[in-house]
Amino acid sequence: SPRVFSGIQPSGGLTLGNYLGAMKRFVDTQNTGVQSIYCMVDQHAITVWQDPENLRRATRELCAGYIASGLDPEKSILFNQSQVPEHAQLGWIFNCVARMGWMQRMTQWKDKAGKNSQNASLGLFAYPALMAADILIYHATHVPVGEDQKQHVELTRDIANKFNHDYKVDFFPVPEPVIEGAATRVMSLRDGSKKMSKSDPSDASRINLTDDADTIAKKIRKAKTDPEALPSEAKGLEDRPEARNLVNIYSALSEVSVDAVLADVGGKQFSEFKPMLAELAVEKLAPISGEMARLMEDTAEIDKILARGAERAREIASPILKETYKIIGMVGA
Ligand code: TYM
Repeated sequence: SPRVFSGIQPSGGLTLGNYLGAMKRFVDTQNTGVQSIYCMVDQHAITVWQDPENLRRATRELCAGYIASGLDPEKSILFNQSQVPEHAQLGWIFNCVARMGWMQRMTQWKDKAGKNSQNASLGLFAYPALMAADILIYHATHVPVGEDQKQHVELTRDIANKFNHDYKVDFFPVPEPVIEGAATRVMSLRDGSKKMSKSDPSDASRINLTDDADTIAKKIRKAKTDPEALPSEAKGLEDRPEARNLVNIYSALSEVSVDAVLADVGGKQFSEFKPMLAELAVEKLAPISGEMARLMEDTAEIDKILARGAERAREIASPILKETYKIIGMVGA
């Protein structure tokens, strides 16, 4: 039976990209009734330096963000990675399955490590093997993510296949990346060729889930565009990355297809479209940031939710780890 797993790093600041590419889609998935497991991946976050107090706050804030977006901690399993040690345990085994060459091909590793890769943490290099463990420790079959995580889910498939092949078992499912909808790659508001990211030095390049209404409206008003009017069909957006990005955001927020959006706004200038987009974004995002702030007032309650989530996650993960140890030949399993 299908089982969904996905995760987000608590590395400070959730963006509209995280919301549309991941969180909103998690909520839609949860509401179809399929078993869904969503993680705050604190062990991934520390592959680059995190201030301890910030990490604690960001983890709780991410939990608040999940709930404020509409995830129900009773329906879905919501938990923090380090509270379920089976992730790291299976991660070690996958370090021994994955090949150096596979990891070296990861574009995110190449981007993040940059020229000074000798000084990157070993964890940053091994990160995709831990991500594979996150998914496979639950025998998850579907992984909703944004475009930028596709290569990591493909590596997860390679690891599952190699494990099954090496040990002559049919144990780990080969999971599918689920990359659907208009907003699987939300771009920077300042540069249509760059992904919207919390690590972009320009705050004007992104909408943060914690931005207030005025800030959201101002960032959209200042977003880079071109001088043409909006086209009336999607193919008119092909060579217009900034225009396409704003229309995609509108489509995803309003849950109306790009074609239907353009049927409506085709021919309008950005001076008219941007205020429409700003109003829609504020309408959809303000309740989320308000609810996040409210939930953050009671961190003890958040910690309780996380503890309960970890307990439920371990009920699934622990027998799968045990079975893995048996397959490998570890005494005691
Ligand atoms: P992270 O924390 O960078 O991002 C979390 C999710 O948000 C999506 N996303 C975007 N989608 C559309 N447009 C954007 N501009 C944008 N920016 C981010 C990401 O694709 C992701 O789905 N390695 C993962 C976390 C992870 C994970 C996992 C995911 C760890 N283990 C297991 C799935 C399954 C990461 O760094 O995502």
